[in-house]
Amino acid sequence: MDINQIERELQTLGETAIAALEAAADLRELDEWRVEYLGKKSRLTGISREMGQLPPDERPVLGERVNALRGHLTTAFENRARQLQQEALARRLGAERIDITMPGRPHPLGAVHPITRVIEEIEDVFLGMGFQIAEGPEVETDEYNFERLNLPKDHPARDMQDTFYLTDTLLMRTHTSPMQVRTMERMRPHAPVKVIVPGRVYRRDEDDATHSHAFTQIEGLVVDRGIRMSDLKGVLEQFAKAVFGPDQAVRLRPSYFPFTEPSAEVDIRCVHCGGAGCRVCKQTGWIEILGAGMVHPFVLDLAGYDSRVFSGFAFGMGPERIAMLKYGIDDIRLLYQNDLRLLQQFTRVVG
Ligand code: DAH
Repeated sequence: MDINQIERELQTLGETAIAALEAAADLRELDEWRVEYLGKKSRLTGISREMGQLPPDERPVLGERVNALRGHLTTAFENRARQLQQEALARRLGAERIDITMPGRPHPLGAVHPITRVIEEIEDVFLGMGFQIAEGPEVETDEYNFERLNLPKDHPARDMQDTFYLTDTLLMRTHTSPMQVRTMERMRPHAPVKVIVPGRVYRRDEDDATHSHAFTQIEGLVVDRGIRMSDLKGVLEQFAKAVFGPDQAVRLRPSYFPFTEPSAEVDIRCVHCGGAGCRVCKQTGWIEILGAGMVHPFVLDLAGYDSRVFSGFAFGMGPERIAMLKYGIDDIRLLYQNDLRLLQQFTRVVG
């Protein structure tokens, strides 16, 4: 062991260590560096041990050198560690940065379609009167759509409802009335029925300002013991006042439907002129809004409700027509085109 040789070694060791420290690119490499240059198995620790073999007078000189180098490397290590930690933090902050001046991503609020809106409003009115809500199939059988509603094959009233047939016996329902029968069947034996049925119906009509081949209806049905025509009128009056305003009145005009007897067409006072007479009501002061009547005994009996014991009333209305009257829409096609300029007028107001 030669002191000069060790001093030279310490010199190179210091230089190599500092160069390696600067090359350590992250905290993991820095830790490896610490083990290699300052750890128990490092060359520096090795030199400290070997010093014991030197002559006693040389030991303090070299001991000082070794300690100085250890001190120097430790300080350099701590500085580098701090520097790398700061760099890592800065990188993370950079990556996670949120620019609070950026405009937010808008979540546009949809609008409730006017037909849906009218259906929901009418549902609320009837729920308030104790009705239940039911839905039925759009693909119906000839039997339910016609036969059981007292419309046999050769019945002239079938012509009023130009039908999309799928097969000889299957069709797209032309009205929601088949749900009268389906509901009564479901409620047997003889439970009271009080139900409304919203749904889509289909007819082979040319589309124009007042007709569509696919539109919606709301059917109503009440069956129990002792139901009278005055009950029908009372319910419809409640409905008209709730939907068109507390001053509304309804009027029943005799009419004909195969599944009701007697049958009526139901008018409300013209929403446009209030009854004075105008273009909208064709100077009559009244506007037809639905068909109704007392459920035909034949229909009751076929559905399993003995017509000698039970009676009922039914009605059918068109939400499109009601939406058009309520919102002053003069062409039914506007309700099917999904033009945002129309729909955005029905955006639900929150709050
Ligand atoms: N189903 C009839 C139609 O589509 C409307 C209707 C009239 C329904 C009278 C009824 C009713 O329940 O009693 O034209």
